Amino acid sequence: MAPIIRMVGLTKRFGGFTAVDRLDLEVEEGEILGLLGPNGAGKTTTILMLATVLKPTEGTVYIGPYDVTKEADKARRLVGVAFQEPKLLWVDSPWSVLNWHAKVCGLPSGERRRRIRWVLEELGIWDVRFKSAHSLSGGTRKRVEVAKILVQRPKIAIFDEPTAQVDVVGKHKIWGMIRELRDEGSTIILATNELHEADVLSQRIAIMHRGKLLVCDEPRRLKDSIPGGDVVEVSFEGGVPEMVTEELRRIPTVVEVSAARQNQVKIYLNRAEEALPRIAELLLRLGLQAKSMRVSEPSLDDVFAHYTGLTIEEAQRR
Ligand SMILES: Nc1ncnc2c1ncn2[C@@H]1O[C@H](COP(=O)(O)OP(=O)(O)O)[C@@H](O)[C@H]1O
Ligand SMILES: [Mg+2]
Repeated sequence: MAPIIRMVGLTKRFGGFTAVDRLDLEVEEGEILGLLGPNGAGKTTTILMLATVLKPTEGTVYIGPYDVTKEADKARRLVGVAFQEPKLLWVDSPWSVLNWHAKVCGLPSGERRRRIRWVLEELGIWDVRFKSAHSLSGGTRKRVEVAKILVQRPKIAIFDEPTAQVDVVGKHKIWGMIRELRDEGSTIILATNELHEADVLSQRIAIMHRGKLLVCDEPRRLKDSIPGGDVVEVSFEGGVPEMVTEELRRIPTVVEVSAARQNQVKIYLNRAEEALPRIAELLLRLGLQAKSMRVSEPSLDDVFAHYTGLTIEEAQRR
């Protein structure tokens, strides 16, 4: 697959402050790319440059063949953005917002009505379609903002924190609809500070922190990139025989073994799924029976901490 978006040294400064710092990142056609980072990481600023709302201070981004600093109008036509802060007029209703948006995007009236009805029903906001925006909850306004892009179905669809304030049922619905949009051929960028959202939706995740891109890869590979990130906990009926620890350390993917409690060892390793048979075999050979064995893999938060020394929550508070 060829890249459909290409950021080249993309930079945005506000006065002396660098919000986005020399981003080099390509987005493949037809993928969902998660842009993950704490508040203030520079996600929204990046998105606003892709959408030609903000002009890069340095560097540029190519949307398809178009350089946003030279052919903003052509680039803009390929992109639809569900903004983080929906800019609905208070007097607008969901129906009028969507109808206006679809009209501007050039959808003929029959198609417009059909798509708007479908999206409003799917998102569970059909009944409030004629209510004015000021009477709607934050979660409902967010749904309307997301609905704009689901009606538009652009070649490149960008969602900036699409499920903030949306309840869990709505979240799953929106995730399903974003996947469907991708399956129909759109390329998706999803900015989020929610680890789980990035994890379940994205083919690749680009982690941002303080304006910089730290790493970009498939979630699975990001987790595997932490040395000793997987943990296997084995507990025994009695104490832990000393030679177990010694023998476990000899397994090639094991990074560290520690006696967590009297009856338990914690094994830090890579690709636990491959080492499990060897651990079981070892115990069998030593004539030991484990009471329980528990495997946990690193979360994206562990990945973030690995690259920044902070959890996302800590980074969020700074
Ligand atoms: N118009 C602006 N003027 C000055 N600073 C800004 C402006 N927009 C964003 N920033 C700053 O840039 C940084 C990145 O913001 P943003 O792109 O909104 O991050 P994110 O979306 O990851 O939370 C923040 O520190 C924010 O305060
Ligand atoms: Mg943001």
